[in-house]
Amino acid sequence: MPFKLENFLNTAVEAVREAGRIQRERFGEAFKIEHKGEINLVTEVDYQCEKAIIDIIKRDYPEHEILTEEAGSVKTSSKSRYKWIIDPLDGTTNYAHSYPCFCASIGLEIDGEIVAGAVYNPMLDELFTSIKGEGAYLNEKRLMVSKVGDIGRGLLATGFPYDIRDSKENNLNHFCNFAVRAQAIRRPGSAVLDLCYLAAGRFDGFWELKLYPWDMAASSLIVKEAGGMITDFRGGNFSLYKGEMLATNGLIHEEMINILNLTTNN
Ligand code: IPD
Ligand code: CA
Ligand code: CA
Repeated sequence: MPFKLENFLNTAVEAVREAGRIQRERFGEAFKIEHKGEINLVTEVDYQCEKAIIDIIKRDYPEHEILTEEAGSVKTSSKSRYKWIIDPLDGTTNYAHSYPCFCASIGLEIDGEIVAGAVYNPMLDELFTSIKGEGAYLNEKRLMVSKVGDIGRGLLATGFPYDIRDSKENNLNHFCNFAVRAQAIRRPGSAVLDLCYLAAGRFDGFWELKLYPWDMAASSLIVKEAGGMITDFRGGNFSLYKGEMLATNGLIHEEMINILNLTTNN
């Protein structure tokens, strides 16, 4: 197959749609649920979606490396320039409780840079896609971040880490600081969708810590290609592998950095 980013994106789209089909079909059913930690769940459907996605990627690109939430790193015999980064079901807690807010996400990294991404929310039939340099889309519609320039009018989103009960770095300090300054905050339970919604102008800002590469791979590209800004909490370079992410429409970025640096974790 020739090296065309569009071909890679087509594979990602087919795979997230197939995962979405499974999620929708099994939504509300009685399926097996295991605990990865005290409050960190994994369902039978996470594994089923992961297998379906890996099968499609391997069918098209058997030599490429894969990094996926449940199976970890699927290495190839020789070192690959290509890495598919997969969250087969983002929003597992929601899914386990039949709360309809979840998606599947796939980002493709080439030589350490994300160049294509697809996210699918099967309950709303919303497909978010992006190719580096070519913009971000929701179904056929080009996406653009919001123009809200004041945090007091901004709708923010965040989430909490699974070690919230044991760690002082649990985001509650930041949540309190933003709660009294923003128009409102939402905690939908799918970081991937939060970021896609930021790209779509539905949210104006998002912050979270202790995220994983699969939460941010496709969604960070979608945000950037919709004109958004992404850094760490101090305004430094963002990395998929550092866990910390501040993403905004650009206009409220500095204000959010100032608020994130108001307190230490106490
Ligand atoms: C989680 C969700 C949640 C976020 C957590 C993630 P999962 O992913 O995105 O919104 O707050 O940090 O780990 O476990 O449902 O794939
Ligand atoms: Ca996730
Ligand atoms: Ca997941």
